Amino acid sequence: MRKHVKGNVSWVGYIDWELETFHGDDYSIMNGSSQNAYLVEEEKTVLIDTVWTPHRFDFVENLKKEIDLNKIDYIVANHGECDHSGALTALMDEIPDKPIYCTANCVKSLEGQYGKRGWNFNVVKTGDELELGGGKKLVFVEMRMLHWPDSMAAYMTGENILFANDAFGQHFAVEELFNDKADRCLLYKEALKYFVNILNPFAPILKKKLAEIAALNLPFDVIAPSHGAIWRENPMQIVEKYVQWADAYQENQVTVAYDTMWEGTAKLAHAIAGEISRQSPDTVVKVFNVAKADKNEVMTEVFKSKAIAVGSPTVGNSVLSSVAGWLEFLKQLKFKNKKAAAFGCYGWSGESVKILKQLLAGAGFDVVEEEVRSLWNPDENDFAAVPALVSSLLAAPPKE
Ligand code: FEO
Repeated sequence: MRKHVKGNVSWVGYIDWELETFHGDDYSIMNGSSQNAYLVEEEKTVLIDTVWTPHRFDFVENLKKEIDLNKIDYIVANHGECDHSGALTALMDEIPDKPIYCTANCVKSLEGQYGKRGWNFNVVKTGDELELGGGKKLVFVEMRMLHWPDSMAAYMTGENILFANDAFGQHFAVEELFNDKADRCLLYKEALKYFVNILNPFAPILKKKLAEIAALNLPFDVIAPSHGAIWRENPMQIVEKYVQWADAYQENQVTVAYDTMWEGTAKLAHAIAGEISRQSPDTVVKVFNVAKADKNEVMTEVFKSKAIAVGSPTVGNSVLSSVAGWLEFLKQLKFKNKKAAAFGCYGWSGESVKILKQLLAGAGFDVVEEEVRSLWNPDENDFAAVPALVSSLLAAPPKE
């Protein structure tokens, strides 16, 4: 069923209330999601993006109820990832000759995933235009590495709509479609989680792209991403947030992340959390057992933090596998401008704290020297080392 967006533009996507994970199981979905596709019906009719592969037949059948598929003049594929291109095969079986507008990298992506099917590709670059009639047009903007090499946005003049694809999106099911109708608290929670876990690795590129888009001085009435709510009420609010988030963002927060075998490292984690509050009552403190907490939610809290403390006991001359995996994901997200400390218990060889420090440094954190290493279970001497670790974490911000 179509939903009206603005003028002659409708939403024709799929609201995925049942979705629980994304990118395999690498991204947790707590509040549903959507794959947003758009139908532009000016003198020319354009379909912008499709939906994820499992919904391809429903998508085509639903689209047929809205429009004679032969009336579609052009298809725009802003991004080749299968959550947006997954219905192209079913659609192109119906209208095989229709031109597909996309980047050169998107052609590679689509042919790589679906094979060479003889589709009528029209490769576009930043600034290329597609006339819609009535004085309106689509202007393409390459969004390379935001977040794939093929990513692209399309700006519709006349209606002032930016079809931004993944940028500014959220994994968030909003049947009411628009930001002014969505639960604002959840909307921002999901927008931030999406930014942190999907876009932050590309924050330097994003900063440049946001400046490039701002320099165009285009009016934005609507920012229509490919997931979640459409930004209609003050759409620039999410652009302003992205500008902040892409610039080594932090709040007055410290996150403690750990796993534990026999509760010794857990005791240290809680002692560190308590000491942060004692030394700096205004600092928000969050504590997570990374083996039990949702990693995408924890990473969102790490993103907001100015410092983290990470703990693991020594096991197998290393750290617990839960912490090792978590640190690997931490490294991928390329956080900037954050301090880190390490702590943990051990029974004999005791390498965990040293390894944690190496891994945290490798993940781009400014690692403080102070540490807490506790033989067997923490005793008075170990707890006495906590204030120095916390003082160092809370001290002046790290070097840029
Ligand atoms: Fe929503 Fe990169 O796909």
